Amino acid sequence: MTSNEVRKKYIDFFVKRGHVEIPPAPLVLENDPTTLFTSSGMQPLVPYLMGEPHPKGKRLVNSQPSIRVQDIEEVGDNRHMTFFEMLGNWSLGDYFKAEQLPWIWEFLTKELVLPKDRLWVSIFEGSKEVPRDEESANIWKKLGVPESKIFYYPAEKNWWSRSGTPEEMPTGEIGGPDSEVFYEFAQVKHDLRFGDKCHPNCDCGRFLEIANSVFIQYRKGKDGKLEDLPQKNVDFGGGLERIVTAVNNDPDNFNIDLFQGFIKEVEKVSDIPYGKNPGGDRSYRIVADHLRASVMLISSGVLPSNKGQGYVLRRLVRRCVFHISKIKGSTKLPVIRNLDKFEYPLKLKSWSEISSVIDDEANKFSKTIDRGLRLVGKISPFGLFQTYGFPLELIEEALAEKGQKVDKNVFKKEFEKHQERSRTASKGMFKGGLGGHSETEIKYHTATHLLHQALRNVLGEHIHQAGSNITAERLRFDFTHPSKLTDEEIEKVEGEINKKIDENLKVTREKMPKEKALKEGALAFFPERYPDITSVYTIGPLDNSYSKELCGGPHVAYTRELGRVKIERQESVAQGVRRIYAVLE
Ligand code: ALA
Repeated sequence: MTSNEVRKKYIDFFVKRGHVEIPPAPLVLENDPTTLFTSSGMQPLVPYLMGEPHPKGKRLVNSQPSIRVQDIEEVGDNRHMTFFEMLGNWSLGDYFKAEQLPWIWEFLTKELVLPKDRLWVSIFEGSKEVPRDEESANIWKKLGVPESKIFYYPAEKNWWSRSGTPEEMPTGEIGGPDSEVFYEFAQVKHDLRFGDKCHPNCDCGRFLEIANSVFIQYRKGKDGKLEDLPQKNVDFGGGLERIVTAVNNDPDNFNIDLFQGFIKEVEKVSDIPYGKNPGGDRSYRIVADHLRASVMLISSGVLPSNKGQGYVLRRLVRRCVFHISKIKGSTKLPVIRNLDKFEYPLKLKSWSEISSVIDDEANKFSKTIDRGLRLVGKISPFGLFQTYGFPLELIEEALAEKGQKVDKNVFKKEFEKHQERSRTASKGMFKGGLGGHSETEIKYHTATHLLHQALRNVLGEHIHQAGSNITAERLRFDFTHPSKLTDEEIEKVEGEINKKIDENLKVTREKMPKEKALKEGALAFFPERYPDITSVYTIGPLDNSYSKELCGGPHVAYTRELGRVKIERQESVAQGVRRIYAVLE
């Protein structure tokens, strides 16, 4: 079965069961600074899982292009990828476990004809706050899964939220227990280095997770305890590439059709077939994976840079250059052209555009390698990484050649510090500046829209958002304006915001074509980053609104929920750009 067939079968299966296929979200999400990339299908659906009605109804399905960069160092084995497609179906307060688990079982065993005896399942074992998920266990048993193939695990394995276990979830975050299905490659023998006994979550490679049904029914409350969401949801995610790997019954993910174009091109520049390289397959896989992810990022409008998404792209291309040199001793990257025959739920840019970005970055890096290698031993390993973008493997190898060792612990500490810094730097730089989805942050988000409009009314239409950053303590808003605001102007802006709060204006979310929204005068920070059908938040009556902005939300329902806004201070950020800090009282 090809990947296209599996994707189509999945979508058709759920459409037949009352689901509406929704378009995938862009890889780079607007208005979600909690993460650099879309990394799961549920991310763009958070407001709906929290209770907001979705325009397409309560049953949704799609295939969502996703990137998980936290796995970047793991790529190279037979199953880790940075870019992947996540097949997803959702119940927004509609069906629950009794429908979801039998449907997934039917899809895997009837549509994909996976042998039942190769499927194992996992269940949440329960915690102080949430009971053991006997309900799911009973459903699996009824479907014929023997008890010996049902495993119970703690929250680290069988709980899903964007931030991990219940303890790791910030206030307002949603999540729930999950139940996963694993495919067993019977031909793979357990490797004792991974433990005495093999089990579905063992990392030896005998098991591959192919399906995850999350029962999103909790939210982290202000008191740190889990509280029930107003509705019980299902959030399903299954990696398309992994499902196809299981269908092929071949444990190597990189043998599936979606990677073939890349692997073939790597073979062309190396002259050694995949699987036959004396140095192993790792570099082939890294190049294939990273090139594929780079194609998707460039197609999503990302360009190599030193920050945020651009930095990830830079790292991917640089690691490709390094690993190509390991395969063949040359730094020439393979040319990727034959992806056209695959259907991606993402519009790809032209090959010439993609290759010119990759080649440009690769050429720069090849020069850097030469320069950097001369500095080995002269500057610290971390300096080589940070300033020259050297992958750790390259630093280790180069130092080893010169008889030096890299202290991995020192490097790791420096790396973590660096990651923390880049996370902070990228927060608020992208998207609408929404810091999180806690109640207070949501209020600050609506207050930001009011502030934006009030500034335009008081100071003039030349005011445009130049940045925004929200924490649970305050909002920060940057805007274009040539001079310091007078006390009188500040008073006027503050007065107007509070007047609009007192008027208790309704906040409405609408989906509409981006062009229409912009024509109607909706404001947008980065109009090009919004999808063609976008969401627009209006404050006040729709036919006579106070404010209208392209925005992913979420927002409060009525302005009076904000209480009072106070502008605390202003400062200059750059020439022609002012910054205001404001708090809710
Ligand atoms: N959101 C769940 C995941 O990413 C389905 O695994």
